[in-house]
Amino acid sequence: MEGEQKRKVILSGMQPTGGLHIGHLTGALRNWVEFQSEFECYYTIVDLHAITVRQEPAKLRQWTLDLAATFIAAGINPEQAHIFVQSHVPEHTQLAWVLNCFTGMGECSRMTQFKDKSQKYPENVNVGLFAYPVLMAADILLYQADLIPVGADQKQHLELTRNLAERFNNLYSPTFKVPEPYIPKIGAKIMNLQNPTKKMSKTDEAQLGVLYLTDTPEQIKNKINRAVTDSGSEIKFSDTKPGISNLITLYHIATGKSIEQIEQEFAGRGYGEFKKAVGEALVEFLEPFRNRYKELRAEEGYLFDVLRKGAEQARVVAQKTLRKVYKKIGFVML
Ligand code: TYM
Repeated sequence: MEGEQKRKVILSGMQPTGGLHIGHLTGALRNWVEFQSEFECYYTIVDLHAITVRQEPAKLRQWTLDLAATFIAAGINPEQAHIFVQSHVPEHTQLAWVLNCFTGMGECSRMTQFKDKSQKYPENVNVGLFAYPVLMAADILLYQADLIPVGADQKQHLELTRNLAERFNNLYSPTFKVPEPYIPKIGAKIMNLQNPTKKMSKTDEAQLGVLYLTDTPEQIKNKINRAVTDSGSEIKFSDTKPGISNLITLYHIATGKSIEQIEQEFAGRGYGEFKKAVGEALVEFLEPFRNRYKELRAEEGYLFDVLRKGAEQARVVAQKTLRKVYKKIGFVML
């Protein structure tokens, strides 16, 4: 038990707002899998975050279960890591409320995700969207997490989380672990295949530019073939070649070959040949995932069991932290 307590804690989350794309795998999921055998891992499906944008209830329900199946199909072992739904652990909203009272309006309004989303959905700029990063801080701080594996777009939210933890610790006494982000060197920001200067995102208008984990082999090959590339013809990883660099990253993820190896392999060969190789490698790479996903998604009873167990385990830790916080701020404890 003592050994258990000393293990580093990893926490991360994903929104159930549609099918996952290859960026979710390279920026986050892949690393989640890596951590699970060594550390105490909590991976949560953040449905409370999802409703900061209007969701259709039937779809939200379906996507939540899709995500549970996706986590497991991607290699997360529910016997090793705790997989749970955020709304099943009410302490997340309880701690978020407390943290809201320690967060400045200015801090939230500076968040780029808030600015982007309020531009994208001007008809629904709600208080939840504004306070989104505070709920995210609560997700993390409840579990005294050490390391947070995320893509590059979450960096700013993690800085806020660190600030809130330090602020609370200084005002009261050490209460929260101050977490570190874990952002992979390669794959932290996969770009839209049709617009390689823009991050790949589920809600992108250019759907041809979004490579879903459940795409068929034909769809994968077609999307890669039609990917927008840069001028010139050299296969080289460079800031001035965002399209080709994005494809090199995907080829690296699919084959495990280093960037240098890839550049050498395709020296003197054209974009067409390279795209063909990337498409084929991705088909092969995603095939086991797709098959496993289909099997798991059909087993809803099993998915519910995993989520029930995950939430029970998560609550034990979450309740402990929340009690500590309530005591420190002066709430009467029964
Ligand atoms: P979400 O659901 O948008 O994305 C889930 C994870 O995938 C990463 N990601 C990407 N990585 C590389 N390239 C891309 N194009 C790409 N798109 C998405 C994201 O960085 C993220 O790691 N706020 C979070 C969810 C969250 C969370 C948390 C994360 C809620 N609470 C606590 C960590 C800890 C989000 O919206 O992720």
